[in-house]
Amino acid sequence: AQALSHVREGALRNVRLHMGDALEILRRVPDKSLAFVYLLHPDPWPKARHVKRRMMNDGPLDLIHAKLKPGGEFRFGTDHPVYLCHALMVMQRHRHQYNWLCEAAADFQSRPGGWPETRYEAKARRLGHEVWYFRYQRKPD
Ligand SMILES: C[S@@+](CC[C@H](N)C(=O)[O-])C[C@H]1O[C@@H](n2cnc3c(N)ncnc32)[C@H](O)[C@@H]1O
Repeated sequence: AQALSHVREGALRNVRLHMGDALEILRRVPDKSLAFVYLLHPDPWPKARHVKRRMMNDGPLDLIHAKLKPGGEFRFGTDHPVYLCHALMVMQRHRHQYNWLCEAAADFQSRPGGWPETRYEAKARRLGHEVWYFRYQRKPD
């Protein structure tokens, strides 16, 4: 509801909302059509038996790769240390598809330009959590 009121207040004309599974929408968009995909503070599913529910997994990452334009960016943020380790391991398996755009620690410790601060991130920072930011560029085929 809050998103809808922001769209109305800002008279935004380039926003589409889908109430449901984000992966359903992603499956429907044409291949190689997206410049950016953001995955911001996905649910961590901390229990071992729920790990397969995490968005950072092989199925969603293959799908995001298919939908990004070559050179497009997949951007992922989290404040959850366990999820962070999991994400780095999974992305290591996908290094044939994505380049991690990172040259120094500062690159994942500060929010890159054009990256919006979400409500969850603001709350995490108020609680004193560190937040980590990852930019992965889709490789050409
Ligand atoms: C921790 S919240 C973060 C919300 C927001 N991205 C932010 O940073 O403020 C995680 C959100 O992901 C949503 N979510 C989890 N799995 C989803 C899926 N498959 N499709 C769409 N939303 C999903 C949950 O409903 C929840 O609102």
